[in-house]
Amino acid sequence: MENKVIKAALLGLGTVGTGVYKVLKNQEAEMEAKIGKKVKIAKVLVRNLEKAAAKVEDPSILTNRWDEILGDPEISIVIELMGGIEPARTYILSALNAGKHVVSANKDLIAVHGKELLDAAERNHVDFLFEAAVAGGIPIIRPLKQCLAGNHMTEVMGIVNGTTNFILTKMTQEGMEFKDALALATELGYAEADPTADIEGLDAGRKVAILASVAFNSRVVFDDVYIEGITKISAKDICYAKEMGCDIKLLGVARQDEDGVEAYVCPMLIPSSHPLASVNDSYNAVFVHGDAVEDAMFFGRGAGELPTASAVVGDVFDIVRNIQAGCCARIGCTCYKELPVKKMENTYNRYFMRLKVENRCGVLAEITAIFAKYHVSVAQIIQKDTRTEGCAEVVVITDKVREGDFRTAMAEMSNRESIRKISSLLRVYGK
Ligand code: NAP
Ligand code: HSE
Repeated sequence: MENKVIKAALLGLGTVGTGVYKVLKNQEAEMEAKIGKKVKIAKVLVRNLEKAAAKVEDPSILTNRWDEILGDPEISIVIELMGGIEPARTYILSALNAGKHVVSANKDLIAVHGKELLDAAERNHVDFLFEAAVAGGIPIIRPLKQCLAGNHMTEVMGIVNGTTNFILTKMTQEGMEFKDALALATELGYAEADPTADIEGLDAGRKVAILASVAFNSRVVFDDVYIEGITKISAKDICYAKEMGCDIKLLGVARQDEDGVEAYVCPMLIPSSHPLASVNDSYNAVFVHGDAVEDAMFFGRGAGELPTASAVVGDVFDIVRNIQAGCCARIGCTCYKELPVKKMENTYNRYFMRLKVENRCGVLAEITAIFAKYHVSVAQIIQKDTRTEGCAEVVVITDKVREGDFRTAMAEMSNRESIRKISSLLRVYGK
């Protein structure tokens, strides 16, 4: 009789691991009709057996020994949900080399070692799938590799970190300062005990590296991505942005043109009329532009137990279908180009700046003279009188300028006595 069960192993039983266990349980009755086989979690690798026992129906599936999974020829799919670089990298590579298929949500690992893992999968004719690594429950890797494969993609950008989007939403809607909004995000369980990876933009940077690699068919790694976090954003910046018709969002942006690829993460002003400006709270959204499809936007939950598990289980089901059709490793690494990645100073952006300047005649002329010297053209300007401090606040949005030129203009400005403080400098998304 044909074996109707495919055995899988979970590595890690934290937030996402538990979610995958639950989603597979929820799907148990329908699975065979849906994909032709039942997926059974035969083993779960954990560090602390006692702590994990309450999370599974049958604690005998728990193990703290990787070799029990690697050496079990009946386990054909390994689902890595431990996170971090090691031992995840070693375990995944050894699973692939042993002919097992692997699903992972590990963006930290894939953004750095993606090529090594995909090459190992190809060599061994097995699948290595990672839909959950970018924007959690939102399908974006598979749409880019498959549904949108007929496009030349020129841009992929969006809000790919839920914690920072929640913080910026609270700052915008309730006038909170950054530290109060972060405290609320921590209290509600959005931000982790150590929120550094989220608020400094590192988590989003890893996702941008993966997105750019897949969208442009050319490897972009974490170190190629220019990153700024949201820790310096103030409620005042958000108020001025609103006055100028914009919202502030932490955006991950990847573009390609004839000079190569640019990839960065930073807080940016975005016109309030742009669809991404109304993506609030902990939601994520990814916006793509291709020559055939034009614009397409993907929106949903970018993190969390069940939304992330939804993407992981989708990958597992895909592998089961591939196994049955005898077509594993059909779509592996799609990076067949070697495009250069631009340095940030060679990108062109619009800038928002908030300056505290001496309140006397001739100061604005001084500022515009420096702008003119470095080809910076003013698009919008606001001046607010704050006589009590003897200073005025000047807020400017520029037209597009080369970042290197803009930085030189800023360095020259910061040396002028009449310019007391450059309070903030942000980029502006759009033409
Ligand atoms: P988590 O809650 O910290 O869970 C990680 C689990 O892995 C824990 O059970 C941990 O055990 C176990 N683990 C870690 N190292 C291990 C080792 N060497 N041997 C055995 N078990 C080990 O993490 P998570 O939030 O589920 O995230 C898992 C992965 O999914 C990460 O790569 C993350 O970036 C990615 N991801 C998460 C989300 C999300 O919403 N959470 C969204 C998208 C992607 P202990 O409890 O004993 O430490
Ligand atoms: N910490 C991430 C976020 C979720 O806030 O979006 C995991 O990628």
